[in-house]
Amino acid sequence: MNDPLLQTFKLKHLNLKNRIITTSHEPAYNEDGMPKDRYIAYHLERAKGGIAMTMTAGSAVVSKDSPPSFDNIHAFKDEVVPWIKKLTNAIHDQDCAVMIQLTHLGRRTSWNKGDWLPSLSSGKHREPAHRSFPKLVENWDIERIIKEYGNAAERMKEGGMDGIELEAQGHLIGQFLSPLTNELDSKYGGSFDNRLRFTFDILSEIRKKVGERFIVGIRCVFDEVQDNGISSAEGFKIAKLLSASGKIDYLNINRGRIHTDPLLTKHIPIQGMKSAPHLDFAGSIKKEINLPIFHASKISDVATARYAISNGLVDMIGMTRAHLADPYIVKKILEKKEDDIRPCVGATYCLDRIYQGEEALCIHNAATGRELKMPNIISLAKKKKKVVIVGAGPGGLEAARVAADRGHEVIVFEAASNAGGQIRLSAKSKRRKDMLGIIDWRIAQCSKKNVKFNFNLYAESKDIINEDSDIVIIATGGTPNLELFETKKELPHVFSSWDIISGDIKPAENILIYDEAGDHAAMQSAEIAIEEGSTVEFMTPDRLISPEIMGMNLTPYLKNLQNKNITYTIAKRLLGVSLEGNKLKALIGSDYGTFKYNAIYDQIILNYGTKPLDELYFDLVPLSINEGEVNYEKLIEGKEQNIIKNNINKFNLYRIGDAVSSRNIHAAIYDALRLVKEI
Ligand SMILES: Cc1cc2nc3c(=O)[nH]c(=O)nc-3n(C[C@H](O)[C@H](O)[C@H](O)COP(=O)(O)O)c2cc1C
Ligand code: SF4
Repeated sequence: MNDPLLQTFKLKHLNLKNRIITTSHEPAYNEDGMPKDRYIAYHLERAKGGIAMTMTAGSAVVSKDSPPSFDNIHAFKDEVVPWIKKLTNAIHDQDCAVMIQLTHLGRRTSWNKGDWLPSLSSGKHREPAHRSFPKLVENWDIERIIKEYGNAAERMKEGGMDGIELEAQGHLIGQFLSPLTNELDSKYGGSFDNRLRFTFDILSEIRKKVGERFIVGIRCVFDEVQDNGISSAEGFKIAKLLSASGKIDYLNINRGRIHTDPLLTKHIPIQGMKSAPHLDFAGSIKKEINLPIFHASKISDVATARYAISNGLVDMIGMTRAHLADPYIVKKILEKKEDDIRPCVGATYCLDRIYQGEEALCIHNAATGRELKMPNIISLAKKKKKVVIVGAGPGGLEAARVAADRGHEVIVFEAASNAGGQIRLSAKSKRRKDMLGIIDWRIAQCSKKNVKFNFNLYAESKDIINEDSDIVIIATGGTPNLELFETKKELPHVFSSWDIISGDIKPAENILIYDEAGDHAAMQSAEIAIEEGSTVEFMTPDRLISPEIMGMNLTPYLKNLQNKNITYTIAKRLLGVSLEGNKLKALIGSDYGTFKYNAIYDQIILNYGTKPLDELYFDLVPLSINEGEVNYEKLIEGKEQNIIKNNINKFNLYRIGDAVSSRNIHAAIYDALRLVKEI
């Protein structure tokens, strides 16, 4: 047990069994604002995986006028207490500490949620990310909210929580703290001491309600890294005052601002960005301040976490997204199976989704958030079967991994010379090369279980029949779709986004990229074309560009394409393409009008999803027991399939991922997991 990560830590009276935690993150799994069974199962899985402490809630809201824009827990309601009790009992049974983050979101929310009360703030300007114009906080609001913090903390103590953490970055407390968002001319605005008063009044109220034997921490911004914002010097002063107050048991160090997509992405870096960018800053506070220090920000791998602890930069290290990808990190460290940890590839599908009002899901762990039905640990099948999988993209590889974990004999056919499918195209962008982790981890897991791979083999039905298997899974993916609804046939003279990304086609001088799918491939093509010196018109029939990419993932594209030769054209539809000398003539219209016009380009690139590569599947349908049919009720419940259409045939046939219809990586992996876990 010399591993620094496995050393215990005493947080006041609380014994933490190791140094790894998950920091607060709202997965939006609550039901009616209560952390019910799905929510509990999610945290319980991570507790079983061995973390020392789980910080629940992406800030449970303390007041009614903090509308729960992330489906936050309603900490302002008494009815929350029994649910919190159920949650804390389950987590404590795993010898894991459990706390909850409390907040008032201030302007970081929308008024059209919950009870439709106006959002409020210490300043009148709206937060760009949530768009609501807040009312300027009044004295009676301040008095009320301070009390509501105290009441919420008391409820959490009654529910058996080990402690609470205040969120003080970008939320109401943070808005009061920052000169950039505090315009009050009362005793709560203006000077440094006045801006800090709200924080200390809340802390006093909380201590009055919960006493000393209850952990109270604060997740605070100690450097806003913005002119006229909280400077690091002011941040150090805040840290010292918090420490001297005796009201706080630890500091959770944050740096930067979160009110726009680019700044949020800087604070919580996504793939292709620097690892652990704020760790040294956290370490510099630890050197000065005599309080336990917590920190999280892209500490995605065990080696970096170990470095943070062994170098004394922090006391507790947050590996939050890492645990969305693999809840069993600590157990795998203990069992000396670090190689088996499913890597967080920084895709930030999880966080981007909650800003779209969806639940958090991990791009390549379909069990996350579905713990009541989907396993992280696959159980052995009662009977060993032979499973043939065609296609080694993310869906096919997930099917192979899960089938192998079930103890089956697994054979994979792949037409290409290597595994990965469309993920290899994503990883052509240097920034997105970590996506290969999705493939590499599965290949490594399959190798450990002796899965047999046949590359460079375009399987035909005779190859499948020769294998004499029990199960056949078609995961052949798709090919770029070049047929628009309006053209009824493949557009002539155009190339696909894949042609540009793969490098098969060099971008010409003057290009139209027509994006009707709204996903990464169009933006990726635009980046490549711009890098090659092209002039690009990026056109979509939608009213927004790239609706499938979402805020944090769109950020690097929009940054790279600023001030370049690209124009964005929304609400225009490509209707046809013809040759005009050695150029291409595009016929363009719009859903918003009846006009049409022509435009001339050197090259037209189409991004319109994929069409399924399903020939083999349809060849095999009549030869299979179930004729390809899936019982959706059983699939949704994660139960064994039971359709028999034809008793003479020998194998069951299934089709997953883009071989069914053009979707995304998560969909392909979820298709595979929920089907194969019962095979
Ligand atoms: C889905 C999701 C929701 C989050 N919600 C919150 C939140 O409500 N409050 C908070 O302080 N941090 C929140 N975070 C940020 C995390 O606590 C953490 O700081 C961030 O993910 C960086 O750490 P990591 O790189 O270990 O994931 C959220 C993160 C995720 C992934
Ligand atoms: S979606 Fe990406 S960033 Fe989020 S947990 Fe999964 S792998 Fe990590």
